[in-house]
Amino acid sequence: MCGIVGVVGNQNATEMLLQGLEKLEYRGYDSAGIFVLDGNKEQLVKEVGRIKNLRAAVEKENVSGALGIGHTRWATHGKPTKDNAHPHCSEDQRYALVHNGVIENYKELKEKYLRDVNFHSDTDTEVIVQLVGHFAKEGLSTKEAFKKVLSELEGSYALALIDVQDENTLYVAKNKSPLLVGIGEDFHVVCSDAMAMVAYTKQFLEIMDKELVILTKEDVVIEDVQGQVQERTPFEAKVDMSDIDKGTYEHYMLKEIDEQPAVMRKIIQAYQEKPISQDLLAQVAQSDRIYIVACGTSAHAGWIGKNLIENWAGIPVEVHIASEFGYHQPVLSERPFFIFISQSGETADSRQVLVKVKEQGYPMLTLTNVEGSTLSREANATLLLHAGPEIAVASTKAYTAQVAVLSILAQNLGAYLGKEEAKKVDVFHELSIVANAQASVLAQRDELAELADRYLAQASSTFYLGRYNDYYVALEAALKLKEISYIQAEGFAAGELKHGPIALIEEGVPVVVLMTDPTTVAQTRGNIEEVQSRGAEVISIATEELANEKTTFVLENIHPLMTALVSVVPCQLLAYYTTLQKGYDVDKPRNLAKSVTVE
Ligand code: F6R
Repeated sequence: MCGIVGVVGNQNATEMLLQGLEKLEYRGYDSAGIFVLDGNKEQLVKEVGRIKNLRAAVEKENVSGALGIGHTRWATHGKPTKDNAHPHCSEDQRYALVHNGVIENYKELKEKYLRDVNFHSDTDTEVIVQLVGHFAKEGLSTKEAFKKVLSELEGSYALALIDVQDENTLYVAKNKSPLLVGIGEDFHVVCSDAMAMVAYTKQFLEIMDKELVILTKEDVVIEDVQGQVQERTPFEAKVDMSDIDKGTYEHYMLKEIDEQPAVMRKIIQAYQEKPISQDLLAQVAQSDRIYIVACGTSAHAGWIGKNLIENWAGIPVEVHIASEFGYHQPVLSERPFFIFISQSGETADSRQVLVKVKEQGYPMLTLTNVEGSTLSREANATLLLHAGPEIAVASTKAYTAQVAVLSILAQNLGAYLGKEEAKKVDVFHELSIVANAQASVLAQRDELAELADRYLAQASSTFYLGRYNDYYVALEAALKLKEISYIQAEGFAAGELKHGPIALIEEGVPVVVLMTDPTTVAQTRGNIEEVQSRGAEVISIATEELANEKTTFVLENIHPLMTALVSVVPCQLLAYYTTLQKGYDVDKPRNLAKSVTVE
């Protein structure tokens, strides 16, 4: 949800900014811009659309300099136009600023201080830079003006500010939005994600909320709200350039779908080498109810986690959508334990719940793919997904990694509590069976491409049905298809269809039916008959033991509680190939961003 970059002290700033923005494009891709200062030459270039448009414009104008800022936008306030693209400048053109986040009181600030100022955009961001200009005009130094503005802002922000009268300094601050400072040889950078600048440095400094940072070629000075200088030890970013590379793949999404068996093996290795600590298990085990809080695909993984934990550990689990929980907290049990699931570890909806329940003193754990991410830092404990960077906007390998780590947690918890069912399960062995079964689905991709072509690509609406875990996979499968192919897709509990949604079934409508639950397979077969007799085209996906001669796609047998890890894979591929057929941008679907840092 918007990505920002900044460079000070490197003559190659323009290229660094562009490359950084290319790496951050997953955070938003409505429009982009850079501001580079070279002596007193101020160069501002903005373009609507992808970074490649910006790059083309920048190359035409021959932009160079050693101080610069850049931004890739996911519109929150104001349409994705050139005027609304960042960087924004103060009226007197003295300041340029990029911002990731949302300023909640921007209208009040505009009214209070900036009534006479001409605005050039509809953004909340422009208010920030105009305010810096306003306070500077009143006689404050840039640092003091910036500080004063920060004290007035309500909401989330990661900011990088340039004063054109000082080509040696970059001013930076953050609150609730992610921001890192990178330490290069003779230069410094800032970025929303280490991935953006890891080609230039692996050493980064974490910035805390409300701190103000002044960067020059030589120095990084971090001050807290009281103006006290803070010492900070750098950490080494573990992002590998080869993980970020698409390699020979046409799309990240297919690369990431293909990586799933390898991710399963990586998870097995990581959790065998460093098991979940007994301390953490003890904490979870003493709770009387677990609350899983997440959004989107991560919430879908949470539902599978619920069934795993309840079956193996016997602790009741509730799954909540973060954006709902945060504002209408349900009645909690006496000893709740919270599990936050977030691929990015930056999702604002989940974070606001985490902050609230932390204030209430409840213990919590974050499952995330990004070490050092906000939700990881702020929780009492973290379980890493080990999926490697997920760059395609539609989540695939992170989902299966989440379910895999939840299955390890559930089994470990059950064994810790002495539950016989859990003690019988060798979860690492089961995960290795999963890896092989996933690989077998991947080997049959051509068949799935054909099904996508034949049934889904021409459809205007589709349905996914299943019961128990298959229902939750149906929700995930429908999300996958709708978010990248723009085909209306809904997941339903198969038994619910006759209570309303069946009215939508008509001749030729594709219905994907998942059958991996022995307890309910007979009933689901009945539901297939019901939709077929109303003209639906059924694609059925079943495990070997539940398949029959009519089954369209057969999965290898896996542990009955872990089937989601395999049954989701053909659905991911169906969504991928359908979107290819339709000619849409698989990795960057319209209106979306990878990391959703606004509520
Ligand atoms: C869908 C998708 C989203 C995310 C959701 C939460 O493919 O990726 O639904 O799952 O935005 O994101 P994280 O997991 O980063 O909190």
